[in-house]
Amino acid sequence: MASLSTRTRISDHGRRTRAAVTVAGTAMVALGVSVAGASASSPHSSSPPGTAMSGHITWWSSPISVGNLDLRTAWIKAFEKQYPKIKVTLEAAPTNTDTNRSTLETQISGGAGPDVFMGDVIWPAQFAAHGLAVPLSKYLPKSYFAGFAPGLVAGATYKGQVYGAPLFEDQGFLYYRKDLLRKDHLKVPTTWAQLASEAKTIVKKGQTKEGYVFQGADYEGATCNFMEYFADAGGSVLNSKGTGLAPSFKAAATKALGQEVAFIKSGVSPKAESTYQEANAMNDFQNGTAAFMRNWDYGYSTANSTGSKVIGKVGVAPLPSFKGGAGYSNIGGWNMYINPHSKNIAADLTFIKWLTGKQGQLIESTGHFSEIPTLSAVRNMAKVKNGNAVLKIVPKTKLVPRPAQTPKYASVSQAIYQNVSAALAGTKSVSAAVSSMASGISSALGGNSL
Ligand code: GLC
Repeated sequence: MASLSTRTRISDHGRRTRAAVTVAGTAMVALGVSVAGASASSPHSSSPPGTAMSGHITWWSSPISVGNLDLRTAWIKAFEKQYPKIKVTLEAAPTNTDTNRSTLETQISGGAGPDVFMGDVIWPAQFAAHGLAVPLSKYLPKSYFAGFAPGLVAGATYKGQVYGAPLFEDQGFLYYRKDLLRKDHLKVPTTWAQLASEAKTIVKKGQTKEGYVFQGADYEGATCNFMEYFADAGGSVLNSKGTGLAPSFKAAATKALGQEVAFIKSGVSPKAESTYQEANAMNDFQNGTAAFMRNWDYGYSTANSTGSKVIGKVGVAPLPSFKGGAGYSNIGGWNMYINPHSKNIAADLTFIKWLTGKQGQLIESTGHFSEIPTLSAVRNMAKVKNGNAVLKIVPKTKLVPRPAQTPKYASVSQAIYQNVSAALAGTKSVSAAVSSMASGISSALGGNSL
């Protein structure tokens, strides 16, 4: 695949930073949006939304890839070529999703901020409840939202309105060293116990230093990892009304966290797991020091990029489960949102429709970029599927979202990841961590969650 020829390094919140050589060959397909002679710059204009032909907008986005070719600038260049009178100025956002969110909260609630922003899929409820994002469904028709892969629009909806336009999807996957599995006559693991035993075999033979690396630091990524074991153990975080903890919480959380801690205690995973973000796991894996890794979609192209020591030796599979068969993948990803203070909503919508339309989605998922596109039509195109090894696994995975339907999600997640990380560090027992997770979530919800 084309991404094999790209150079890569990892940003500190774990999204890839991929230096690419050229976009040559990227097909520039016809726009899926109407551009009929409008120059609207406000939603009150008589022109239909998203048909602006001129204007200046600012776009807040953390790096998705950087280097010789940055996906954000590749998008802007192609967009401005199509819309020469709309100027998009990129504002570099913090790479850590938590810092990114709190910076935007401060800016927007203070009446400022960018026109449009790329934000995490876990933000819609909070941003909607606090008036930090425009309800896109007030401007865009149902037919626009119908084009996205199932579940993505539901995840961006709060109280009947859609706030985020799905830009790209992330999912958790298992990456493994197919050369070592072949050499040792091992199969791709489908249970956590099998993964642990194979990892021990590989480490014992001195083929890698570490068995399995994942994300256990005191940040959002640890919640993503935890949710995968937790869903597999039959757990739900919130009760059906979203007002408090689900009855299944404690038993499933104990099983989930118990497994994560066992990986460290048994030496399958490094002691430093409680400090690991995506970038740490990725560095170990691409340096050849880990046999297995949990990471997002970009793990495959990153491990096969120039600078990696494991090029051509990497396999990707669904994460294992407790019982066998495909386990759960947490749903991550990023949406496009509009700041309620934007004076350019028509141009904002034009840009968003273009990014999430066929042309924008083809750019992100072909050539030097290998995001999972959100648009079903693009996802199903042979040229996209054939060039993207991770996309081939997507139909096999089971998905679990984070409990982000509550505007209190940031505090709910903090109660999860702080305790996961403390248990992984060994400063709390599994049962103490699960108890304080439960009480932290309950107090975050405060009986008034949705
Ligand atoms: C990825 C995911 C995002 C998640 C973050 C956690 O960027 O797309 O949804 O919150 O990782 O580190």
